[in-house]
Amino acid sequence: MLAFALSLVVYLSVLFTAPVRAIRLPDTYDVSWTTQSNNSAGSMPLGGGDIGLNVWSENDTILFYIAKSGTFDENNSMLKLGRVRLTLDPNPFAAGTFRQTLKLNDGYVLFDGAGNATMKLWVDVFHPVIHVELEAAQDVMLNQEQSSWSFDNATTYADVTTFHDGGVRMMHHNLDTTVFDFTVAQQHLSEYKSTMYNPLTANTFGLWMSSPDLAPGNVTDGHYVNTNFKAWNLYSKTAKSSYNLQIVIGQAQESTKTFHASLDSAAKSACNNSQSDTIKWWHSFWDRSYIMINENAGPADGTFQVGKNYQIFRFMQGCNSFSEWPLKFNGGLWTFDPVFVNPDAAFTPGYRRWTGGIFTAQNQRLVYWPLLKSGDFDFMKSQFDYYKRITSNAQLRGRVYFGQRNNTANEFVDMILQANMFTGLDVSPYMDFIENQIMWFDQFYRQQHLKADAFSLAGLKYESDNGNGSLVIYPGRGAETYKTAYNPSSTIIHQGNRSYFEDLLRRIPETPLRFQQGKPCISPAQGYSRIQNTEIPQLYPVFPWGEYGLGMPNLTFATNTYEYDTETQDFHGNNQDVIWLARMGLTTQAKNYTLHRWSDSTIYRFPVFKGPNYDWSPDINHFGSASIGLQEMLLQTFAAKNTQTRLMGAWPADWAVKFKLYAPMNTTLVGKVVGGKMEELVVGPKERMGDVVYGTE
Ligand SMILES: *[C@@H]1O[C@H](CO)[C@@H](O)[C@H](O)[C@H]1NC(C)=O
Ligand SMILES: *[C@@H]1O[C@H](CO)[C@@H](O)[C@H](O)[C@H]1NC(C)=O
Ligand SMILES: *[C@@H]1O[C@H](CO)[C@@H](O)[C@H](O)[C@H]1NC(C)=O
Ligand SMILES: *[C@@H]1O[C@H](CO)[C@@H](O)[C@H](O)[C@H]1NC(C)=O
Ligand SMILES: *[C@@H]1O[C@H](CO)[C@@H](O)[C@H](O)[C@H]1NC(C)=O
Ligand SMILES: *[C@@H]1O[C@H](CO)[C@@H](O)[C@H](O)[C@H]1NC(C)=O
Ligand SMILES: *[C@@H]1O[C@H](CO)[C@@H](O)[C@H](O)[C@H]1NC(C)=O
Ligand SMILES: *[C@@H]1O[C@H](CO)[C@@H](O)[C@H](O)[C@H]1NC(C)=O
Ligand SMILES: *[C@@H]1O[C@H](CO)[C@@H](O)[C@H](O)[C@H]1NC(C)=O
Ligand SMILES: *[C@@H]1O[C@H](CO)[C@@H](O)[C@H](O)[C@H]1NC(C)=O
Ligand SMILES: *[C@@H]1O[C@H](CO)[C@@H](O)[C@H](O)[C@H]1NC(C)=O
Ligand SMILES: *[C@@H]1O[C@H](CO)[C@@H](O)[C@H](O)[C@H]1NC(C)=O
Repeated sequence: MLAFALSLVVYLSVLFTAPVRAIRLPDTYDVSWTTQSNNSAGSMPLGGGDIGLNVWSENDTILFYIAKSGTFDENNSMLKLGRVRLTLDPNPFAAGTFRQTLKLNDGYVLFDGAGNATMKLWVDVFHPVIHVELEAAQDVMLNQEQSSWSFDNATTYADVTTFHDGGVRMMHHNLDTTVFDFTVAQQHLSEYKSTMYNPLTANTFGLWMSSPDLAPGNVTDGHYVNTNFKAWNLYSKTAKSSYNLQIVIGQAQESTKTFHASLDSAAKSACNNSQSDTIKWWHSFWDRSYIMINENAGPADGTFQVGKNYQIFRFMQGCNSFSEWPLKFNGGLWTFDPVFVNPDAAFTPGYRRWTGGIFTAQNQRLVYWPLLKSGDFDFMKSQFDYYKRITSNAQLRGRVYFGQRNNTANEFVDMILQANMFTGLDVSPYMDFIENQIMWFDQFYRQQHLKADAFSLAGLKYESDNGNGSLVIYPGRGAETYKTAYNPSSTIIHQGNRSYFEDLLRRIPETPLRFQQGKPCISPAQGYSRIQNTEIPQLYPVFPWGEYGLGMPNLTFATNTYEYDTETQDFHGNNQDVIWLARMGLTTQAKNYTLHRWSDSTIYRFPVFKGPNYDWSPDINHFGSASIGLQEMLLQTFAAKNTQTRLMGAWPADWAVKFKLYAPMNTTLVGKVVGGKMEELVVGPKERMGDVVYGTE
């Protein structure tokens, strides 16, 4: 991963020979509270690397939950590493005397208190360490409590927590038998088990919390919301005005001995890690890409909230920047006590609907698409590598019981290839996945076609699905995938496979059309995988596939589908509407949905904690699709075989904006729009200026 990040940095510096001003987000984007929260649902997110905290103040104490990517237990739940509570005496941060602020530019949370006391919480982006730094005007006693919870009813096995070397050490090491074994047996794959990729075996995670200023105290019992916990307390040896606490986090598939050794070594160097590297990283992250709208309009203004909350959501994506695992669509790193999401969910704070270990392609894609235009190509690696890791298991299943697997991972094939178009990403590590994914669909549908009645019409409610050849059914919407799958990788696809893919390209039929209310519309190309949901597959040719849209022929087929298809009218307001509207140039409606989507949360205290919708709070894919929508209103890049660069295709005239976004062919666009006019635009490389078009022209 490091090599990848480095090569990216090198290339960016070449690219930025065009004038670039370092950007600073307005301080008004910071989220700041002067009253305590009622509970964990009133927390704010913090993070870095692949660690996420929910930070809040309650009952005159400061609390945070700790999560990290990859903490999958025996049951493939993603467990929190616990909760920390800080209690001070005397307490400069008591109710009425403090302010809690998410400092976006520098990526940390600050508590300001009485007598200019400060408590800074930051997560090191480069090392898995949480830092708590306290400066008070007078000496205070500090108690730091690390809580773990475990259930007798064994949905979660007990974690091992002990006092260790003056601190508190917690570890969870997966038992030998996990849900992986159960699933493999259920899927009749036991004989292949030893060769399969297994992300749960020996998975080990935990933390070590210590400070030279604190000593082990008592172990206490407690109860919070719906969770019984045990707390290991560290307390001040003597009152002091300044404290530095570190919590070192670890996770790997390894023995407990190796785990402890690496935790110890990380802990030893943690005290010398300075925040300045992390702050520098956040500054370069903000400088990399932004969309800031009507910055001076004030916090209550809806358009101001669009820009502010888009940036805050990007901060949350940045918290998973160096992760091995994708940011989860259902809660990300910031789930809180689930009863505040669903009153029936009386479980522990790591709980989320659709579980912690499943990365549903249909939802994950919406979290990862926006990272192309924001230039966060390095963050996409975790999602791409996820597919690389599971490809061998998928191939095995394909061999063992061909035809039993469904997957909407085609979009990730497209995404990888687009990353190649945008930034020259080396796709060779993913070729196995890409070829496997495309060939699977082809072979599966051809095989189905050979079985009499095998491709039953049961799940297909559309007349155009005449069942005469199953390849007709699938790739209608996949055409763009195959097209893009072929073109940018033509030099990479193994020569031996080349004619296979050329043939396949020829077998792909046109996207079917039909009439609705007398208007020509796009017909849903397939009914089988998405029809029982509330989605509108008819518009997938608009997004993700980019077959219809501004600058492409027959746009009215798409707008008709949106407006006249009687089967879709009940489903408007869906996750992707705003993206389709933007791509079709329907500015008024796109604006309406965007304002709604990005408005400050009225459900939770933090403006970008919304949900659960169909998934969980905070609803990450809901904001992923909102990010794509906002980007597409401003910049579209799919037309003319991904060479056209359309600015303001669906941009409201009264939205002043400063932006920096990315387009295919290593292109960067830095611009400023005022009163519906592009006042400044720097395109790099310069030649790409010729590909820029504006509005709906
Ligand atoms: C705490 O809960 C009360 C009652 O529901 C609500 O009025 C108040 O706004 C909440 N406070 C915060 C900070 O969310
Ligand atoms: C807090 O800081 C302000 C500004 O630096 C200073 O004027 C004031 O004396 C400080 N108060 C205390 C109690 O240190
Ligand atoms: C599991 O145990 C916890 C703590 O004892 C309890 O709150 C919870 O309701 C139990 N869950 C089930 C499903 O029995
Ligand atoms: C695993 O999680 C599922 C879903 O929450 C639950 O029904 C099941 O009892 C759990 N199994 C074990 C072994 O903990
Ligand atoms: C630990 O608990 C004992 C018994 O309740 C109490 O006397 C003692 O003060 C506690 N120690 C600390 C450090 O809180
Ligand atoms: C705060 O106090 C209330 C009332 O005693 C209690 O229910 C809640 O669990 C406390 N919160 C924390 C974080 O201890
Ligand atoms: C941390 O820095 C101090 C002062 O420079 C140095 O003495 C110490 O050896 C360093 N510790 C580690 C673990 O690098
Ligand atoms: C694949 O999709 C079909 C139709 O929706 C469904 O009946 C089948 O169970 C799915 N297979 C798997 C392995 O999910
Ligand atoms: C099969 O279906 C496709 C798509 O509807 C159509 O274009 C084609 O003419 C059909 N072929 C036969 C032999 O029915
Ligand atoms: C537009 O749609 C019509 C009707 O299906 C088709 O004949 C024509 O080829 C399409 N135009 C383009 C440029 O694809
Ligand atoms: C505007 O957006 C709201 C919220 O998403 C939606 O309920 C409403 O139908 C939209 N109105 C129009 C005219 O699209
Ligand atoms: C984009 O940059 C990459 C990496 O430097 C390079 O390999 C690729 O050729 C470039 N592509 C274009 C179209 O300039």
